[in-house]
Amino acid sequence: MGDFITLDGIVFGYEKSPAPTLDHISLTIQKGERIAVVGANGSGKSTLVKLINGLLIPQSGKVIVAGYDTAIRSHLQPIRRIVGMVFQNPDNQIVAGTVEEEVAFGLQNYGVPTEEMRKRVQAALEYVGLWSERMRPPDQLSGGQKQRVAIAAALAFSPECLIFDEATSMLDAEGRHSVMTLLARLKGEGTTILSVTHDMDEVVHADRVLLVNKGSLIYDESPAVFFSKDLSSYRLGRPLAAEISALLRNRFHQFSHPLLSVEALLAEWDHWRMTGIVDATE
Ligand SMILES: Nc1ncnc2c1ncn2[C@@H]1O[C@H](COP(=O)(O)OP(=O)(O)OP(=O)(O)O)[C@@H](O)[C@H]1O
Ligand SMILES: [Mg+2]
Repeated sequence: MGDFITLDGIVFGYEKSPAPTLDHISLTIQKGERIAVVGANGSGKSTLVKLINGLLIPQSGKVIVAGYDTAIRSHLQPIRRIVGMVFQNPDNQIVAGTVEEEVAFGLQNYGVPTEEMRKRVQAALEYVGLWSERMRPPDQLSGGQKQRVAIAAALAFSPECLIFDEATSMLDAEGRHSVMTLLARLKGEGTTILSVTHDMDEVVHADRVLLVNKGSLIYDESPAVFFSKDLSSYRLGRPLAAEISALLRNRFHQFSHPLLSVEALLAEWDHWRMTGIVDATE
């Protein structure tokens, strides 16, 4: 079986920009992978994910999604059904008067028959836990609920891949948690997930981390390998557990670093406590 998504030597520049925004990027994505895309502001992350669902077309190189080429006009419709996008600001994504109409909107544009559409809207709203809110105007919902409506609108197409472009950055802790829970569930069911994020505690759950810097792809690594690199020049921050493991290592040089989860921290702590090197009563 071939790769699910391929970016082959893509170069992309916005009109009037003197240098390309993305310069010779190649990568492949397999079905079912969960990929985090990270990098400083303006590095080209949003541009990269917009190229994947054909919102932008590269000036050279190719983007192939499930065999469809984003540069071929007639391929865009199937690509948009395969790859759904959820953006940062839930308010900018809402167009309809009720939650139900919002989720139906995209399907109507694709000419999905009414009965089929009803079934899809109900299934998508039940999936995100908002079927009971279907008659409400979306602008009365919380930020987290609005993002779940946006996710339902994407899910109504039964996408094989979902792209989240900083979809939780404007949400409070509860909203963030509800979206992250959905994301983990979708991944568990085999949906390919690309998530652009500044949250390093989210990144540790990915299968692969892509670091974009000034339009180039610097790293394509597992989180464990990625966070063991010197990332100091990329303005990224570290996962909370890695911050703590770095501090502990300053005191006990045997302590492993970087550790990426609180569970790993506790296991390491227990290990060294058993050996008597770390005294819990200290
Ligand atoms: N529509 C546009 N027209 C011209 N330049 C643009 C446009 N959109 C983005 N850019 C420029 O392209 C570069 C990459 O932008 P992009 O939005 O892809 O970055 P990003 O990594 O998503 O940043 P952020 O973390 O702030 O979302 C930036 O220099 C930006 O100013
Ligand atoms: Mg962006």
